[in-house]
Amino acid sequence: MASSLTPLLVLGLLLVLLASARAISISLPALPLSTASRWVVGADGRRVKLACASWASHLEPVAAEGLSRRDVGGIAARVAAMGFNCVRLTWPTYLATNTTLSSLPLRWSLERLGLRESVAGVRVNNPDLLDLPLIDVFREVVSALASSNIMVILDNQMTTPGWCCSRSDGNGFFGDKYFDPEEWLKGLSAMATMFRYTKNVVGMSLRNELRGPYQNVSLWYRYMQQGAEAVHAANPNVLVILSGLDFDNTLSFLFSKQVELSFTGKLVFEQHWYGFSDGTDWEDWNQNDACGVAVESIRTKGLFLLKQGWPLFFSEIGFDMSGTHIPDNRYLTCFISVAAEMDLDWAIWALQGSYYIREGILAYDESYGLLSWDWYTARNPSFIKRINYLQSPFQGPGLPNSKKPYNAIFHPLTGLCVLVKSPNSLELGPCDESNAWNYTSTCELVLKHSGQCLEAKSVGDIAKLGTVSSKSCSKWQLISDSRMHVSTELTKNGTRVCLDASPDGVISTNQCKCLIEDPTCNPESQWFKVILSSKGIPGEASVLQLPSLGPWPPVSSS
Ligand SMILES: *[C@@H]1O[C@H](CO)[C@@H](O)[C@H](O)[C@H]1NC(C)=O
Ligand SMILES: *[C@@H]1O[C@H](CO)[C@@H](O)[C@H](O)[C@H]1NC(C)=O
Ligand SMILES: *[C@@H]1O[C@H](CO)[C@@H](O)[C@H](O)[C@H]1NC(C)=O
Ligand SMILES: *[C@@H]1O[C@H](CO)[C@@H](O)[C@H](O)[C@H]1NC(C)=O
Repeated sequence: MASSLTPLLVLGLLLVLLASARAISISLPALPLSTASRWVVGADGRRVKLACASWASHLEPVAAEGLSRRDVGGIAARVAAMGFNCVRLTWPTYLATNTTLSSLPLRWSLERLGLRESVAGVRVNNPDLLDLPLIDVFREVVSALASSNIMVILDNQMTTPGWCCSRSDGNGFFGDKYFDPEEWLKGLSAMATMFRYTKNVVGMSLRNELRGPYQNVSLWYRYMQQGAEAVHAANPNVLVILSGLDFDNTLSFLFSKQVELSFTGKLVFEQHWYGFSDGTDWEDWNQNDACGVAVESIRTKGLFLLKQGWPLFFSEIGFDMSGTHIPDNRYLTCFISVAAEMDLDWAIWALQGSYYIREGILAYDESYGLLSWDWYTARNPSFIKRINYLQSPFQGPGLPNSKKPYNAIFHPLTGLCVLVKSPNSLELGPCDESNAWNYTSTCELVLKHSGQCLEAKSVGDIAKLGTVSSKSCSKWQLISDSRMHVSTELTKNGTRVCLDASPDGVISTNQCKCLIEDPTCNPESQWFKVILSSKGIPGEASVLQLPSLGPWPPVSSS
């Protein structure tokens, strides 16, 4: 009795531990962070995925937005509740180099801009911050984020406080009217030093969106290397994040020439990608073509760095959260497909639902904001659900199945994955519950350890499971310019069908839609990405690693 109870008890304990690990809120990873080839990793060597929200603190008031709307701790808790583990907190160089400005109390900073209502709002929501100098307000925001176990990346957005970015704002490139390299280096050092012992400050972005008439590749290398060295000398813990040219749309010059630094294991690159980065492609073109071309373009501009073994942080992606901007909706689904395929580190623009003042407009509504204008609700709750899987790592070092990754069939439109409910029913469900698929070299979609595979029977029918032994597996090709249509020819008569998810999540094999030309046709129900995952699979013994507990079920010793 006793000998067979022990493994049972241990198993029970393990299950309880697993269950409670799921229930607790996020914790900070083992810090400091560093890099291992293309991955950002914790001090324990495990992958740490940056899933960040950008929080602006660089506009004219030089204070984090929203302090007049909600208490700072509540905002930080909200970031965590939405599943983000990190905030990209922006600052203007003057906050670190101009003591007249940095010592200005928040109340005066708002009053000098005529923002009386904001003063009243801060008095109600954050009375303790109202009379603090701006630099201390900034520190308090970082500390509130620490209380919610949120990592912080400090992003030098501008030299002068104000909305960023235009080609002619004098903040675009080294040598521009307000962009003195010496002052910038001084500011970076001061900021890095200030947060030297602040654990949750894990990275510093040297400068947002370099741009304008003074852009110059050789000066980029000169000053970015100096900036990286200055930050690292002042604070060797932080990741040093370098942004590209043309509003951080391109790092293509790095393809043939690397930066040279005195240190290793801390360098990360960052790239921005918005729908408007692609001109009017998302309106004018067939959506498959637009996505195919856009992905090829970001590949040559920056994604290639992952292959070269450098971490690349998509530090600004964003879209109109109202859901009514069709080109943005299309771009977003395309971005989500890439984020799933490459398991990207990323930051959304933006957290703030509104600004104290932006471009001269009081209480400016941020249509790209995660939060509503009043900072009380999520502007687009379905988006938060859709990105849930993309907020945690499924590839990289230290995951439960790093040695035996499997494929999942990801559906970018919903953020869900294809799950087998029964041999005759495949449905979309949480990717964490995905079956372990293998997309084989012969183009079959086989369920590991089961002898079963995906089979298309006829047009308009639900997708079914066949068996490998009866040779009924369909051969699935990834077609169209997006390569996201998962398609096969029916053995019966050669008709081509595509996997399709109905609005209630049932997977069928339907006629392929929108493959070419028509720019109005929406193919997204038929877009899937076969992705690689090393996450634990529920119900798989490999996840619990039971073998070390002895044979299971326990065998009698006689
Ligand atoms: C420093 O900031 C103050 C307050 O914003 C401003 O009036 C002053 O011009 C700034 N000084 C410099 C050198 O930019
Ligand atoms: C870039 O800057 C370097 C160094 O100042 C200069 O020699 C070169 O001519 C510049 N290139 C362009 C295209 O302006
Ligand atoms: C799929 O199966 C092949 C052959 O057994 C194996 O080499 C490959 O690693 C598997 N891939 C995945 C993702 O499971
Ligand atoms: C092939 O079979 C399907 C029924 O599964 C039918 O809808 C389709 O018209 C057939 N195509 C041809 C070319 O016969």
